[in-house]
Parts: sequence; C-alpha cells; structure tokens
Amino acid sequence: MKLRFFTVFDIVKNKADQLGHTEEEMYAYLKNYKLNKKDLLAYKENGVIPTDEKVLNGILSYLDMSKVELELKLGRIPTGFEEIFLNNTKEIAEILVEKNSVKQAEQSPIPAIQPYYSSDLGTLYNGDCLELFKQVPNESVDTIFADPPFNLDKEYDEGVSDKNSFSGYLAWYYKWIDECIRVLKPGGSLFIYNIPKWNTYLSEYLNGRMNFRNWITVDMKFGLPIQNRLYPANYSLLYYVKGDKPKTFNVQRIPLQTCPHCGREIKDYGGYKNKMNPNGVTLSDVWSDIYPVRHSSSKNRKFNELSVKLLDRVISMSTNEGDVVLDPFGGSGTTFAVSELLGRKWIGFELGNCDIIKERLVNKEKDKKLFEKVYEEKNKLFPDKVKELRKKNGLWIDDDFRQDNEKETENDKKTNENNDNINYDQISLSLK
Ligand SMILES: C[S@@+](CC[C@H](N)C(=O)[O-])C[C@H]1O[C@@H](n2cnc3c(N)ncnc32)[C@H](O)[C@@H]1O
Repeated sequence: MKLRFFTVFDIVKNKADQLGHTEEEMYAYLKNYKLNKKDLLAYKENGVIPTDEKVLNGILSYLDMSKVELELKLGRIPTGFEEIFLNNTKEIAEILVEKNSVKQAEQSPIPAIQPYYSSDLGTLYNGDCLELFKQVPNESVDTIFADPPFNLDKEYDEGVSDKNSFSGYLAWYYKWIDECIRVLKPGGSLFIYNIPKWNTYLSEYLNGRMNFRNWITVDMKFGLPIQNRLYPANYSLLYYVKGDKPKTFNVQRIPLQTCPHCGREIKDYGGYKNKMNPNGVTLSDVWSDIYPVRHSSSKNRKFNELSVKLLDRVISMSTNEGDVVLDPFGGSGTTFAVSELLGRKWIGFELGNCDIIKERLVNKEKDKKLFEKVYEEKNKLFPDKVKELRKKNGLWIDDDFRQDNEKETENDKKTNENNDNINYDQISLSLK
C-alpha cells in the first residue's frame, strides 16, 4: 500500500481501491459528491491542491479527510501550520522513531541472493533493485549511475512495468534513491538520467540529502513534436555528491567544435587560440556530443540503451581505477561494459533479461571498438583527422603553440593528482 502521494488524483484513486471500485465506478460514485471526471483528471499529472472550493469540498467529502490531512498525505507541511509544525518537531520525531523501531523489530533477516554472473571486477544480480540493494553494505560504493524506466509506458521485458501512477512512480523512485544515498561512500557521486519532468521532482528530493553539483543537459531529440508544447530535445542528467565535495573529480576535455567539411572552428576563439589546451576544451554541463544508440551494429537489445561515450564520461569523471560503480538498472549492461574497460569494480542489477548483459561482458570486442572510437576524440583539442584537415587548409593547430599549452596540461595533471587521480595516458594504456 502506498502511503505518500504526489497527486490528489492518486489519493482519490487509493480510496476507490479501498472501496473496491473500478475507475469507471469511481467516477460514477464521485458524481454523488458533485465531482465530474474532468474535475478530477485535472489533478492527475501535478501535485497541486484544487483551488476551486466546490471541487476541493467534493474531494474531501469523498475521502472523509480534512484539508490538513490531505496536505500531509501529499508529503507537505499544511499551509498555515508551518509554525505549529516546527514548534512540535520534538513530539513528532518521538512518534516517528517509536513507530519505526516497532516496524524494524518485525523485519525478517535479509536472505542472500545468488549472483547471475561474476567477472574479476564485478557481479550482476537478476532481480528487483529494491530487494538487491539490501545486499549492499552502507558506504561501500564510489559512484552510482541510474537510468531507470521513465514511466512512459515503454515496452521492456516481461515482468518489467513502465506504467505507474504519478505518485506510485515517485514513491518508488524515492525508495531507491534512499538506498543509493545509504550505499554511497562519503564524497561518492550519484548520476540520474531521466526526462526533465521527473528530474525536477528528484532534484527537489535530493536537495538537502546530497549536494548538488550539476544539472547536465544532454542535448538529444527523443520523440516527436508535441502539440502546444516546445519540442522536447534534451535529457537531464542529475549529478549529486554525498557530503561537501566529491572524493574524485577528474577533469574531462572534449575537442573544439569544427566544421566537418573545412575543419574551421565553429565559434571564433580569436586571440585565445594560443591559450587552448591541447587536451581539449573543458567539458561544460551541456553535452551536445552524445548520440542515441540506434544502429543495429552497435545496439545490444531492442530497448533503450545508452552510449559507451556517455558512460565513459561519467565513470572517468567520478572514479579512479579500482573504485566501485553501481548501476541498479542494468538494461543492456553499458555501465558494466565500460567499468570493465576502465578497470573499475562494479555491481549491477537488472529485473529483465540478463543474458544480453552476460553475453556483452563475455565478448568484449564490440565494446572495445566503440571505446577506441571514443578515445580517438577524447582529451584532444583536434582529433587526428581534424588536425590533418586543418593543416591541409592552412589553419592553426595546437602544435603551433605547444610550449604554452604544455604548461596548462601540467596544471590539469596537478588538479587530478590532487584528487588522487590517474592521468589519461594511464586510461589509454589500460584500454590496450
Ligand atoms: C532505461 S533501461 C537502462 C538502459 C541501460 N542504461 C543501458 O544503457 O542499456 C532501464 C532498465 O531497468 C530495468 N528495470 C526496471 N525496473 C527495475 C527494477 N525494479 N529493478 C531492476 N531493474 C529494473 C528494465 O528492465 C530496463 O532494462
């Protein structure tokens, strides 16, 4: 049974479930309270409380609830009661702690779950992440990357649902986020990939529990234009750390954007070109160079799959060799494949089919090739092909300013060493 709700609609629906009504019966029943279907549907996709008195009173009568209780069910301090609430936190805390200790005493011990697959570096478990998290000790993981279903009713393997109510989805989300926070080491990083709509709620939940680093915009069209809305063209990647600062932050650099035909830089860097770092431009929080995995030659399964480039960036940025990476929603196993190639330990969960992941981890050739391609461009101001094109067209290249630039590269290395980091040459070596 759900306890906390995020929309008024879901509270009403929960009441109808308790009464044993179908959704249609629920609407018919609500007519007795002068509420029609349209009135209620308006409160399905957002967390606001009705301002229309007739609608609000109808809902409260049906629920047999006061407005104060309704707000508490929505997880908020009721409007106008903030002071009273804050003046009584001691008593409220005592009730919560007492009830929780009874609940904990009733809980049974956690049964051990057999791994589905293990390599020298990691272990994959087949099951529900909420169950599997219980196996992971407190403060044992360096980075978590999570790319959950987006509640868009997409098709996944049998037994995996991507259709939940608004409240159900968020309540589920907050449970596994709590687990992420528990298992992360101090200074560990959490990355959550989702559509911006959901990440606004998650960000609100995370603020105060972890420290915000970045809202990374991954520039990518993911659907068709929607009538009367802006065309959705970005995913959001939340980046939070547990504690004041990340235990590891490795600077990531990308090439200068150039025209694919003539090699000229897209933006004019004018007088600053001799200041350019030969390792590339510092990565910003807008990522425009990540592409969807669509082509059958690089895709491992028919459902959603993220690119090796995205995972390499996240893992390289937030961990060092030997650190532990956890992904609760394994999918095709991109996080684990990249962790293997980067020499990171990993823990993986997946509720659906795990054969695809195992196959991918056993036969690494395809991922190695994709990886080499990523590294052809990574940490270079101009990838070799672009350098050739620019030389041919008489344009400057970083070699022209090598001495100045080397000083900057040294600075980067120092920053990374201060963070106990390895340098990029080492990463390239471990790929060979
Ligand atoms: C968006 S996909 C992840 C794709 C992955 N990042 C990749 O690159 O292949 C989400 C995955 O989460 C899995 N999943 C859904 N609910 C789950 C749960 N409760 N526990 C574990 N895995 C779950 C789905 O089966 C699906 O494969």
